[in-house]
Amino acid sequence: MDIFPILLVIIVSTFSSIQAGAQTNSKLFREYIGAEGKDVRFSDVPINSKVEVHFILSFAIDYTSSSPPSPTNGEFKAYWDENNLNASHVLSIKALHSNVKVAMSLGGDTIRDRYVFFKPRSINSWVTNAISSITKIAREYNLDGIDIDFEHFDADPNTFAECIGRLLSSLKQQQIVSFVSIAPYDNDSVQPYYLALWRKYGHLIDYVNFQFYAYDKGTTISQFLDHFDTQSSNYREGKVLVSFGTDGSGGLSPENGFFVACSRLRLNNKLHGIFIWSADDSKKTGFPYEKQAQTFLANTK
Ligand SMILES: *[C@@H]1O[C@H](CO)[C@@H](O)[C@H](O)[C@H]1NC(C)=O
Ligand SMILES: *[C@@H]1O[C@H](CO)[C@@H](O)[C@H](O)[C@H]1NC(C)=O
Repeated sequence: MDIFPILLVIIVSTFSSIQAGAQTNSKLFREYIGAEGKDVRFSDVPINSKVEVHFILSFAIDYTSSSPPSPTNGEFKAYWDENNLNASHVLSIKALHSNVKVAMSLGGDTIRDRYVFFKPRSINSWVTNAISSITKIAREYNLDGIDIDFEHFDADPNTFAECIGRLLSSLKQQQIVSFVSIAPYDNDSVQPYYLALWRKYGHLIDYVNFQFYAYDKGTTISQFLDHFDTQSSNYREGKVLVSFGTDGSGGLSPENGFFVACSRLRLNNKLHGIFIWSADDSKKTGFPYEKQAQTFLANTK
């Protein structure tokens, strides 16, 4: 009997489990806030002291506020609800809760009902402008992190990867932010951009806020788990977070078994955290799923 093939299988399977990265559960809860002008404040959202909470201000956009808005080649400006989510509000929610951190998301879907495009004039000029404008906003608002959520592109994937990768590298090196996430979804005109970024600069990205709510409305638990596996292998070694929307969008809702799927992932040590789009949408029902998600995470061992 030949032992070599058996040894080979053992070596290969050991290697691939190492490649899959250290799999551990985490008690991370994240939520987008401020995109919809619904007067939502940090203090409206329930906070469980046993979980780590990231609020993600939505959005900073490199567009003018004129009508119609036009692209500014990396000169970002805060477009979230600043009346209710200003620098004083950030300071006070962080002072009240040592488990809260605040990030901002770049891009988003639309501005004044028009698509926001990633549209650099050149890699160097975009990166220079983005570093200085984002540094200014991050300092003003006392931010801890940044999220990348461009959804429409007027550039090729390599240009996107270089612009974002160099930006993230500089922001982390200068300690302007301490964590970084990206927010891709399963769409053939979006994923190639994030996969190009991941291939070259994945080591700079702490979390993948995968938009599971961009899947069909009738998504079942087993389909959801399949999507999770597919995206975890796309963003290999990444911490892919699970998500749902409270805006009536698609994917697997809490009513249809979102937390059952989470239990399954947790049993397999694959639950890296939960995020919700969005606090603005949850305000009218009093945040029941924010409470449930945080209680669920708090009970993770
Ligand atoms: C933030 O808004 C509050 C009102 O909610 C106001 O009192 C405070 O001065 C504002 N802070 C900044 C930095 O704009
Ligand atoms: C991808 O998103 C674009 C909008 O950005 C949409 O027009 C297109 O239908 C989507 N494609 C798929 C396969 O969902």
